[in-house]
Amino acid sequence: MLSLNELIQQRFGLPTTVDQTAPNKTLTDMLAHRSCRQYKADPIPEELLQVLLAAAFSAPSKSDLQQACVIRINNRDKQQHIADLSPHTAWIANAPVFMVWCGDSRRIRRLAAWRNHPFANDHLDAFMNAAVDAGIAMQSFIVAAESVGLGCCPVSEIRDHIDALSTALELPQWVFPVAGLCVGRPVEAGRISLRLPLEVTVHTDRYDDSAMIEHVADYDRRREAIEKTKPDQQRFVAQFGVSHDYGWSENRTRQYAVPARTDFGRYIREQGFDLS
Ligand SMILES: Cc1cc2nc3c(=O)[nH]c(=O)nc-3n(C[C@H](O)[C@H](O)[C@H](O)COP(=O)(O)O)c2cc1C
Repeated sequence: MLSLNELIQQRFGLPTTVDQTAPNKTLTDMLAHRSCRQYKADPIPEELLQVLLAAAFSAPSKSDLQQACVIRINNRDKQQHIADLSPHTAWIANAPVFMVWCGDSRRIRRLAAWRNHPFANDHLDAFMNAAVDAGIAMQSFIVAAESVGLGCCPVSEIRDHIDALSTALELPQWVFPVAGLCVGRPVEAGRISLRLPLEVTVHTDRYDDSAMIEHVADYDRRREAIEKTKPDQQRFVAQFGVSHDYGWSENRTRQYAVPARTDFGRYIREQGFDLS
């Protein structure tokens, strides 16, 4: 088993002097996280799933409002239907467990009517709090699942066809999908995905990104030395050509140079949210 120092080094591709006097399984598992998109066919026992779901919903929740929910897709035809919505999501049909994590602002609004109180917080914060709760609960599920050797992958690409997805899940007003989640026993160990150095993501006392570009340029080089992207594997080559210093920043800025999911705001408003 790798030490914490070795795991941190592997995660960032940089030497580290972090003390490793207190290794523990939670830290080791979190540092070794990798998304898994290929699963053995073995079913996951229902008892284990119940424990993982209980752990997920033990996560913190904004104001204890508990505005997350998850829709487990047990019907294989429905899972196939969701997978078929986009060529990008075809692979999710093979996940032994598939679920969709949702923000749920409906529950508290129904409770407000039941308790005979106005719902006086109909603004952007209501959407954001439910989205954050769902994301935290999903991540807690992932940590729990990885701790017992399962592999997971969140799938926001299921939102590419948001109306069809919403119809398939019969989502009522005030409930919206955040991401799908595939779960199963990993076919292979998978690869650690290098993260930006903490100099970029951790600020002290004030926001300061003055050295960000230099750090990212170094990160691009470190990451590319591992990933060795072939010219024909670059993103959107037809549109942007072949880059000779391709790396994470080129890949991700190409991704966001092309509009995607531009209908999501419209969908969220139609679900009843006032985003002002
Ligand atoms: C909210 C969210 C949505 C994601 N959506 C997708 C997706 O649609 N398809 C996919 O293959 N991976 C998806 N991922 C997984 C990321 O691509 C992955 O976390 C990232 O590449 C880093 O790799 P790692 O998780 O192995 O460290 C998603 C992750 C998150 C947190």
